[in-house]
Amino acid sequence: MLSQIILFVGYFGLIFGGSCPAGSVNYVEAGECIVTIPAPAPLSTASRTCAALSGRLIQPQTQQENVLAAVSAIKALPTKVPVTIGVIQRDRGVDRIYADGTPLQYLNFFSESEYSASPCTVLNPTNLQWYSTPCNDTHPFVCQFSDLSTMLCPTGWSWNDFTQNCYYVQNIVASNHALYVNQSDAEAICAQMGAHLASIHTQRENIWIRNFIATYGGVDCGQGGQALIGASCKDGKKTWSDGTTFDYDLTNGDCTDAYTMINDYNCGLAIREIWPSWYAQNQFSRFICQKAALHLADVAMNLVKTFQNI
Ligand SMILES: *[C@@H]1O[C@H](CO)[C@@H](O)[C@H](O)[C@H]1NC(C)=O
Ligand SMILES: *[C@@H]1O[C@H](CO)[C@@H](O)[C@H](O)[C@H]1NC(C)=O
Repeated sequence: MLSQIILFVGYFGLIFGGSCPAGSVNYVEAGECIVTIPAPAPLSTASRTCAALSGRLIQPQTQQENVLAAVSAIKALPTKVPVTIGVIQRDRGVDRIYADGTPLQYLNFFSESEYSASPCTVLNPTNLQWYSTPCNDTHPFVCQFSDLSTMLCPTGWSWNDFTQNCYYVQNIVASNHALYVNQSDAEAICAQMGAHLASIHTQRENIWIRNFIATYGGVDCGQGGQALIGASCKDGKKTWSDGTTFDYDLTNGDCTDAYTMINDYNCGLAIREIWPSWYAQNQFSRFICQKAALHLADVAMNLVKTFQNI
């Protein structure tokens, strides 16, 4: 038990974004994200909700996974109540199996009688032990996911794990590469999708976006290929269209209306490494929109409500 507690405390240090969405716990070794959904639900709703998010109720296979399930519960719940896990009785008998029908690889029941009493299973996040419960009792529940990226952004957008944002690049639409929009038009199109033109705050983010918009030859290195971002400058003051602080600057030191990016090996290094500057009326074929990713727990809570009302 002592070693479990030490392990337990140790894992608080591991709660970081990694490639998991905000609010989840990253089980790096298993390549999975673990999330506690705080809505109390019976087993059927809980497992449908995890499945609708392309995951499943957690089936702890190691002590480490059990600990991380408890960590996710402690993170998500104001009071440390038991949470449903994917462990059930086989055919209403005494034996327990994972909810997907596979044999248990790990178990941590409080006692012999908890192992055999009721058909469903909860994890108590404070002592890490398992207790039995009727399957129609409602508890918060823990889901595990191997890939959530497609659940957090609309179709056609890409999720970035360290900014927790979704990105969309409007590519060249006109077959003749005709110029298309100026910065205010592009911002308005992003706004229609609940987004803004992209803002960039770190080198890491800049590199990610550059890779995201990369083209591989055949583009016009000027307005036909450059992609608008949300940076502008007026009277010496630089701003982002989403209102965030201008705390990272790859402009050439000048103050102009609009800025872009380009990442194509055909175009000179000089314009690839900075944000080229333009006038407000200049039109471009490409632009980058950005918005916050969906919050996983909110999506799950809505699913729970939907399933409960059916
Ligand atoms: C759960 O199921 C049992 C047996 O089917 C039933 O007696 C009980 O009323 C149910 N409880 C709830 C909260 O639905
Ligand atoms: C941007 O383009 C629109 C037409 O699409 C035009 O109405 C607007 O005046 C232009 N803005 C600037 C600053 O040139």
